[in-house]
Amino acid sequence: MAPTPHDDGSQGVKEESMASQTATRPISSLLLIIAMQTEALPLVNKFQLTEDADSGFPKGVPWLRYQGNYKDLKINIVCPGKDTALGVDSVGTISASLVTYGSILALQPDLIINAGTAGGFKAKGASIGDVFVASDVAFHDRRIPIPVFDLYGVGLRQAFQTPNLLKELNLKVGKLSTGDSLDMSPQDEASISANDATIKDMEGAAIAYVADLLKVPAIFIKAVTDITDGDKPTAEEFLQNLAAVTAALDLAVTQIVDYINGKRLSEL
Ligand code: ADE
Repeated sequence: MAPTPHDDGSQGVKEESMASQTATRPISSLLLIIAMQTEALPLVNKFQLTEDADSGFPKGVPWLRYQGNYKDLKINIVCPGKDTALGVDSVGTISASLVTYGSILALQPDLIINAGTAGGFKAKGASIGDVFVASDVAFHDRRIPIPVFDLYGVGLRQAFQTPNLLKELNLKVGKLSTGDSLDMSPQDEASISANDATIKDMEGAAIAYVADLLKVPAIFIKAVTDITDGDKPTAEEFLQNLAAVTAALDLAVTQIVDYINGKRLSEL
């Protein structure tokens, strides 16, 4: 890009050299984005993070930031926090996009990990308690049947690829489909099937969109709380399994963070 009269081009050079530095030096700053506080708190304790009252976020937002050093990493865990009117976790794509945007600007992470729970399809090999790394993410509730807008709606993106991590930790891999509902309408089901998804969540593709926009690599770790093509009501099964599956998720995330420690992006 040519410099404007007020721009000597140094910002572009700075950004470029930061990107190439991240490729050649070990990862130093990790941002974990976790929608539900129940899922985040065991990791906050594990990494001995503390809540930062001076979060660097806009005044009045409910977003929570826990930060600290773990091994050679600066770790920030960010949650969208409680809905200011209703007091429940701010799940879903809108809050996820906003908190991802705000966190990248405030914290300049080298890598984003979106960790959370998901529904799983038994027909695609998912079982309760499985932990998946998403290979690709896409939306299933943005149907725009006009050429090219249809593809924009689906918003397919590849996660940052981590072949060595997958081999070392023996994690399951599958495609992730994102929408703003816990349940699944027949239209959602058709779109999820078109996305070839094994797991479904409420944040992944939105976080991928923002991470891609701001050129931060992102990976997606999802633990299965409910079987979407099973016979149990989703909300009931989700609540029943949330605590046990969160423990499995947090164990996997800890193993992944331990694996990342001391490595460059290109080594993952
Ligand atoms: N998180 C956990 N289970 C889910 C489901 N069935 N759909 C969307 N997000 C989920």
